[in-house]
Amino acid sequence: MELSVPEGGFWPAPPIPQPNIYPMEWRVETPKLADIYEKSKAMLWNPSDLPWDDLDPSEYDAEQRLAMMYWFALLANFDASGPAVFARATIHAFEQHEEDPVRKCFFSITRDEMNHEECCQRAIGKLWPGGPLDWTPTTDLESAAHNNIAWLYHNGGRYWNGYNASLGKYPMAVLFTSFMMGEVASSTLFRMMATGAQNPVFREMFKRIGRDEARHLQICMTILENDWPQLTDDDKELITRQLRAGFVFLSMILWEPPNQFWDLPPYFLANHRVLIDVARRAGLGVLSYDEQAENWRVAMARVRAIVGRWGIEFPAIPELDIDGVDVSDVSAEDIIPVF
Ligand SMILES: [Fe+2]
Ligand SMILES: [Fe+2]
Repeated sequence: MELSVPEGGFWPAPPIPQPNIYPMEWRVETPKLADIYEKSKAMLWNPSDLPWDDLDPSEYDAEQRLAMMYWFALLANFDASGPAVFARATIHAFEQHEEDPVRKCFFSITRDEMNHEECCQRAIGKLWPGGPLDWTPTTDLESAAHNNIAWLYHNGGRYWNGYNASLGKYPMAVLFTSFMMGEVASSTLFRMMATGAQNPVFREMFKRIGRDEARHLQICMTILENDWPQLTDDDKELITRQLRAGFVFLSMILWEPPNQFWDLPPYFLANHRVLIDVARRAGLGVLSYDEQAENWRVAMARVRAIVGRWGIEFPAIPELDIDGVDVSDVSAEDIIPVF
């Protein structure tokens, strides 16, 4: 075997057109993110190990099972979009040659979200076989639930289209702010649900999901701490818009949907309230309207304080008596935040 050294030197390889996942490299600029990734591997849990036998559907009447299935179908509109959303964000991070721990942390979020999706799937499968939509309603309450879920997913589909378009359009820091909004919301949601839920399966599930979401928030915050000094005034304006979009989108699960973005029939909210109330009284851990509003207000104040440090203005949230920049024209294209 003989080494072949060309006369006149080696030929340079052609430049790789970007964005592209090549060339391969493993740059580490933020060791803290590498630590979080290690922690995510050590803390991995298995939804199949939850005490599913303790969730006995016969302990609930049909309306309670329907209403709890409805809540998980609602949660799935957000949490079950996580795997696809973060899988795409992971690929995007590779193509943008983000440092290795950023890509790995995004992958770990994708992994965690797959578990959260599985929880929705398993809970729905036990409570209402065929749910969320592959079953035939026989009562008015069942028809209302089935129809509301179909309308929810219609809106989820509009958000998915907007999200896909946004990846190439916005800088990563803008995406991270949207993700951060979702993680603040979800860690709040699951913390409150874990204390309120009566069934041990739900308590355990919410506790574990809440722990994951808190780690996701830590990831977003670490990345943003790195990126915010590079934000332009235009980016900052975009983020203010995104924060309002986050409130509008996530309120559906954390509180009640505001009169923006959501394309819903006029009877949706009345039926939604009835169903959520049945789920609440069945012991799912859903807080009251006022408790939810208060939790949301506290979470918003937290986000406001964080982004304020970076010179980003907060949007007006008149629904929660929060003043700020008027962003009353949020559309489907603005919606990025997820769990
Ligand atoms: Fe998350
Ligand atoms: Fe999640």
